[in-house]
Amino acid sequence: MTDTAYSIAQQISSQLSERTPHIAVILGSGLGGLAEEIENPLIIEYSSIKGFPISTVSGHRGRLIVGTISGKEVLCMQGRIHLYEGYAPSAIANIIKAFKLIGIESLIVTNAAGSLHKEMKPGSLMLIEDHINLSGFNPLIGPNDEQFGPRFPSMTNVYTPAYRILAQKVAKSQNITLHQGVYCMLSGPAFETPAEVRACRILGADANGMSTVPETMTAAWCGIKVLGISALTNYCTGIEGGNPSHNETLETAAKASKDLISLVKNFIGEV
Ligand code: HPA
Repeated sequence: MTDTAYSIAQQISSQLSERTPHIAVILGSGLGGLAEEIENPLIIEYSSIKGFPISTVSGHRGRLIVGTISGKEVLCMQGRIHLYEGYAPSAIANIIKAFKLIGIESLIVTNAAGSLHKEMKPGSLMLIEDHINLSGFNPLIGPNDEQFGPRFPSMTNVYTPAYRILAQKVAKSQNITLHQGVYCMLSGPAFETPAEVRACRILGADANGMSTVPETMTAAWCGIKVLGISALTNYCTGIEGGNPSHNETLETAAKASKDLISLVKNFIGEV
């Protein structure tokens, strides 16, 4: 409900005092390390914000950190909310709407994802150029608040083209391998069967995950620019013998996080 978004925004704003972040970063599974790089941090626990969903998954801390990265003020979600935890898609939408209300203009979304291609090795990064929503949910279902965005929003350029170009430039300058491809969201929490993985490939997906799409669609709807980066943490079921587990995901995310941190930090510096 939109009322919840206003309430969340008000509770966050009341703690920001002079801080005015325009960039939000969502840190995915095992990718919370970027939070350690935030200077002059103000920490707001999700549990202290009435109406804010709490992340229940290991590898997700559950707090907002407001501070400076590369000289810019950012609002960082250390730990995200997933549909498979049982939250309504609107609960995720409310977080993004609240971000819009407090002045966020750019959203950097990171996640852990499974690779659908032999050549895209676990431990490397993928720039999300587009997505396929196979989650069975849409965060924009329900009454539409025209103040945020239109009833029938375009999803043509959800991942802001200029941000994709900038991310590739930054990756090159940092010597970081950055694949590019289509992210497919499935609801989880189960990993895919081999047949589902084959189907995803046929549909045009390059990496599979259980997040990102609700946040991104809501951001695109309400006019927030988006950069999406997947840390490829495993081969999807059946690809190169892949048989993913959450532990593998967290372990490999930790390895990929050095490149991810460097990419995101430098991106923020230049955006
Ligand atoms: N499938 C779906 N989600 C994931 C995967 C995967 O292989 N790895 C990390 N998140």
